[in-house]
Amino acid sequence: MSGHGDPIPMTSTACGPLSGIADVPGDKSISHRALILGAMCVGETTITGLLEGQDVLDTAAAMRAFGATVTDLGGGNWSVRGVGVGGFAEPEGVIDCGNSGTGVRLIMGAMATQPITATFSGDASLNGRPMARVTDPLALFGCQTVGRTGGRLPMTLVGARSPVPVRYTVPVPSAQVKSAVLLAGLNAPGQTVVIEQEATRDHTERMLEGFGAEISTRETDEGREITLTGRPELIAQHIEVPRDPSSAAFPVCAALIVPGSDVLVPGIGLNPTRAGLFTTLREMGADLTYENERFEGGEPVADLRARFSPDMQGIEVPPERAASMIDEYPVLSVVAAHAKGQTIMRGVRELRVKESDRIDAMAKGLRANGIDVEEGEDWWIVTGAGHGNVAGGGLCASQLDHRIAMSFLILGMAANAPVRVDDGGPIATSFPIFEPLMAALGAQVRRDV
Ligand code: S3P
Repeated sequence: MSGHGDPIPMTSTACGPLSGIADVPGDKSISHRALILGAMCVGETTITGLLEGQDVLDTAAAMRAFGATVTDLGGGNWSVRGVGVGGFAEPEGVIDCGNSGTGVRLIMGAMATQPITATFSGDASLNGRPMARVTDPLALFGCQTVGRTGGRLPMTLVGARSPVPVRYTVPVPSAQVKSAVLLAGLNAPGQTVVIEQEATRDHTERMLEGFGAEISTRETDEGREITLTGRPELIAQHIEVPRDPSSAAFPVCAALIVPGSDVLVPGIGLNPTRAGLFTTLREMGADLTYENERFEGGEPVADLRARFSPDMQGIEVPPERAASMIDEYPVLSVVAAHAKGQTIMRGVRELRVKESDRIDAMAKGLRANGIDVEEGEDWWIVTGAGHGNVAGGGLCASQLDHRIAMSFLILGMAANAPVRVDDGGPIATSFPIFEPLMAALGAQVRRDV
């Protein structure tokens, strides 16, 4: 769905202690993959706990356009009747992926080795993001692409009629690129090999194995080498989507900075490729504990308990941790503003090509609220004001980016003057219940309309 209607200006005001249980929605990355792989099976895949954010709804609509039967059974339960590997139909209209880089890149991969043509578009944010990182490797399979200057959407892909398998080293740390290549490899004969120098989230590999594909991973001198045998018969599955650590980050970080808070966020996936933020917060001195640690569906899961932590200190975040917390840097910078000393974040060039340029968006908004930020192409440093000293009072541009909007609303919960966001509309892409969930904990966030 392109665009999201009129802007929704919002204001967050300092609040009393946050307390209670925060049941955050299902994991966005896993939700996209469950729909796409479900559409590539023969038979019925059932999904519980699917994230019903706009990004994922757009992927559901896309899978229908490619011929799958996708049904909302209510209460986060969904069913997908797939068309089998290589069975996609040619869509009649343009595939509109809205705000979602994950949606468009994974779907492009899935269709690139099928003998159909499809045109992709999105909102102003998505249409500005680089797609060559995906279409370059897809061309090696035999897929042709025509897009706008700089490899931007809208873009048409002509899928390969006689795809060949590829061996590809991913040049940037990106799970989306890795996943696009693996999904394309599904309908290529023989073995497709992807090598990544830095480990990124591995949900695609885990789920492909669960669906019965032959896939293996080994560490080599070049990096992690993933080998997939093409043309498997994928077996329909039941998938329980764990709750999203990237959404859990918001109530957790809010509890750490709001005096007197004590919040429990149950059932959060702590896959090591996703949990870097929580490690970083603990190194900063956060009172963040893992309770009831267990395994669910092969993934480590725990209930996160976050309590107000007035003595957090800035740290240098190890660059090799970046991929495991890439979506959490905006909200980390909010905690850093409330901590003492500098938080140094290096090796994060990828932040510049997310839903917004996240270093630019956060630096501008933090400065507008009295926080000192230095930045370079692939690094930034936030100098914390310390607990009780964040001025606030600024107006922040969310730049069509859900995580920027939510981060600044968290900032305002412990600032000395209210923090305003020009448009909270994008929050619906990933965390549609953010407002009622935070209100139930005691936050003071209102819409200014
Ligand atoms: C995602 C991968 C990451 C992340 C995005 C979700 C995924 O993007 O930022 O929110 O589900 O594969 P990159 O692959 O561009 O790093």
